[in-house]
Amino acid sequence: MYTHSAGKSRSYYCKKKEGMKKLNIGCGDRYSTDWINIDFNSNHPEVISHNLLQRLPFSDNSIDVVYSSHVIEHFSREDAEKLIKECLRILKPNGILRIVVPDLEQTCREYLRIMDIIDSEEAKKQYEWIIIELLDQMVRTESGGLMKTFWKKIVENDDEDSMKYVEARIGVKLREEVGSYNHHSILKKMLNLNVKKIKNKLTHLYIEGVKKMVPRHIRKAIIDNTIPGEKHKWMYDRYSLRKLFEKVGFTNVLFLNAHTSLIQNFNNEFLDINTDGTPYKPGSLYCEGMKPKK
Ligand SMILES: C[S@@+](CC[C@H](N)C(=O)[O-])C[C@H]1O[C@@H](n2cnc3c(N)ncnc32)[C@H](O)[C@@H]1O
Repeated sequence: MYTHSAGKSRSYYCKKKEGMKKLNIGCGDRYSTDWINIDFNSNHPEVISHNLLQRLPFSDNSIDVVYSSHVIEHFSREDAEKLIKECLRILKPNGILRIVVPDLEQTCREYLRIMDIIDSEEAKKQYEWIIIELLDQMVRTESGGLMKTFWKKIVENDDEDSMKYVEARIGVKLREEVGSYNHHSILKKMLNLNVKKIKNKLTHLYIEGVKKMVPRHIRKAIIDNTIPGEKHKWMYDRYSLRKLFEKVGFTNVLFLNAHTSLIQNFNNEFLDINTDGTPYKPGSLYCEGMKPKK
């Protein structure tokens, strides 16, 4: 069951030991008690802190399912391929890899749809967003980048049409993350702080402090461009993702949707859908492949 806050109970260990071994890599705050969850940043005991650029800490043929949502686009193509190879190594024969990424093709089609009607008022507004969706994540130098700025602007202007458009494009995550920049969300954030989060914040402040000691031009060119997990370094479409899966050695490569999967009872996990059944991240590409028997 998907959760933000479940503690480690006895049944949690039993399920993981006795049942299928399912791994969620780059889980962020979307982790489940039934799964082994891994992320670079861990704010919860359910989440193992591990850098995915290193070897996955599991033996060969030991995992039934590997799932990853909106992670590999943060890696260079070479590193993404290495990670997918690692997934193949740790999966049992017939094990399933499910990768969810932003869909380059869909974003480009939306961009072209808007360009075709760019003289309309509606398209002008939507253009502002689609260009951010397409490019900002590749070039931004601060967390959230122009997505955050744009969202803040439409919330301040009470621009419901734009809010609905953005939510239809990327889901409600932005609203949750950025909130309305009001006192409630600041208070909620403060109440959510725990010792581990405070430690992470202090480490972050320390790193930011050390970074400030590097001359600005060097910082801009080298360090700001390498914040782990912040920027998109590549994007995928149904052609390139299939090629990647097959190159590494996966078979039975399929493109599904937020509600469909070959993973047993996947909809009950609420990883790709919200509890009300809506897709968690619309505009995504959902790809699954199987590790062959030999
Ligand atoms: C866009 S978030 C997606 C989080 C979650 N899977 C979701 O769909 O909401 C990308 C996640 O990948 C993690 N990540 C990026 N690079 C990583 C790395 N090298 N090692 C481990 N985790 C990484 C980040 O910490 C972040 O939580």
